[in-house]
Formats: sequence, C-alpha cells, structure tokens
Amino acid sequence: MSDELSTLYGGVTSRRVTTLDLQKAKDRGEKWAMLTSYDSLTAQLFDEVGIPVLLVGDSAGNNVLGFENTVPVTMEDLLPLVRAVALSTKRPLVIADMPFGSYQETPAQALHNAVRFMRMGAQAIKLEGGRRVLHQVELLVESGVPVMGHLGLTPQSVNTLGGYRVQGRGAAGDQLLDDALALQEAGAFALALEVVPADLAERVTKELTIPTIGIGAGAGTDAQVLVWTDMAGLTPGPGPKFLKKYADLRTVLGDAARAYADEVREGSYPATEHGYS
Ligand code: KIV
Repeated sequence: MSDELSTLYGGVTSRRVTTLDLQKAKDRGEKWAMLTSYDSLTAQLFDEVGIPVLLVGDSAGNNVLGFENTVPVTMEDLLPLVRAVALSTKRPLVIADMPFGSYQETPAQALHNAVRFMRMGAQAIKLEGGRRVLHQVELLVESGVPVMGHLGLTPQSVNTLGGYRVQGRGAAGDQLLDDALALQEAGAFALALEVVPADLAERVTKELTIPTIGIGAGAGTDAQVLVWTDMAGLTPGPGPKFLKKYADLRTVLGDAARAYADEVREGSYPATEHGYS
C-alpha cells in the first residue's frame, strides 16, 4: 500500500492526512473540505465519508456547551472533545482550536496548552490573530506543533470587533494580507479566512504558498470549512448568507423524537417485534 495520498479524497492509504498532504493538495490545485466535529459519532462518520480535516472548534461553545459565543470556552471544555474526535478517527487530520485566553498571554502559555491538546491526540492546533500572536506561532512550530492561523472575523474578538461583521474591507485588506504573510513566515501550515470579501480571500490565496481555508470568504480559497451543525441543518434559523445547508437534520431529528414520544404515549412502542410479548 502506497504511503502517498494521490488525492486527499479516495487516497489509497488508510494513514492519517498530514499537513504535508494539504500543502501538496494546494500545489496540485486540489480543493478540499474541512468540517468541525466535537464528538465520537460525527467524527467516525466524517472519517468514513472521507472528510480529510476535522476541526474541534471552539464553536463547541454555542454548538455543544450552551454558551452564546466562543468567548467563555476553556481548555477543560475542549480537551475531552479533542480526545473523543482523535480516538474515533483513523484518517482525518485532527486540529484542536485554542480557546480564548489559552495562548494570548505568552508563547510559553501557548506551548503549554498546545501540548495538552497534542497529548489528547490532536495533530495540529489553530489560533486566532496575526502579528500579535507571531511569537506564539514561532515557538509552537519550533517545538513541533503545526499551527493553522485564523484571520478575518475572529469570533474570540467579537467584543472588540463590535459584532459579527465582514472584516478586511478597503485598507484593512492590506493589513490582513500583511498578517497572513507574517503567519506564513512564522511557520503556519495553513490559514483560515473567515467572513472577508471574496476578492481579498482570493488575493491572499494567490500570495500565500500555504493553503487557505475559507468560511464566508468566497470560492477563491484552497479549501472550505463549515460548522457541521450548520452544514447539516441542525442549527436553528437560516444562518449567515454564505451557509449552504446540505440536509435538514433539525426536521429529521425533531420528527423522530416526536414520533417516538407519541408511540410511547399511545403504547405502540415497544411492540412484540422489539422483544416483548
Ligand atoms: O470554531 C470554529 O468552528 C472555527 C471555524 C468556523 C473556522 O473556528
């Protein structure tokens, strides 16, 4: 069996995807999809259908933990989720999202917490910010921790950004490109671009040699990422304009729960075929 993934999808091997595979995919011009995952069952399923990269995002804050946003999420919240996703998969690259307050203080703090994620089975980490976190990125990479950067709408900074709004318009686009180049120079293996104008995302993607992953950043990035609960239609409401819901899990699951409750109430479940006489 070859050790080389000829493509990220349908690769001939059962080994894990690496950051090098993602770089080669960019060099070949092959696009790929990343999804969030926070638990064993979705991680297994996404592995089974061939999603090459899973992010244990701090979006667990609003999708799993009941918070309004990602700001209150802690290392202790995410560590067991990272372990569950890593233990339940064989092929995807598993990336752990560094939560707010777990890396901003010092490079040493960032390394300490990144190592905790790597011990849980993550193969890489993601953190938000540009030049302000460069020393953190440098130390992590030097220490053997692959780092994905994250620019644009960085949800951990929602309180300074003044809401969830498009970032990088006008002159702020040049600043974002400068941050992106600095992250690449510091050794980041990839860069997530969230809710930025499509032409800026395309420009950054062309300027960088490392892969870019877009969310609400148009079609010009090397890869795309979506929060799985949004992608599958479990999250209530229409969601942002860039979102495509590939299923209506909220209706499917709601109907199933309602039918089950009705049958229990009526006495038709459990029936004899379920092992009862
Ligand atoms: O936490 C998350 O889900 C993310 C992605 C949206 C990039 O950071």
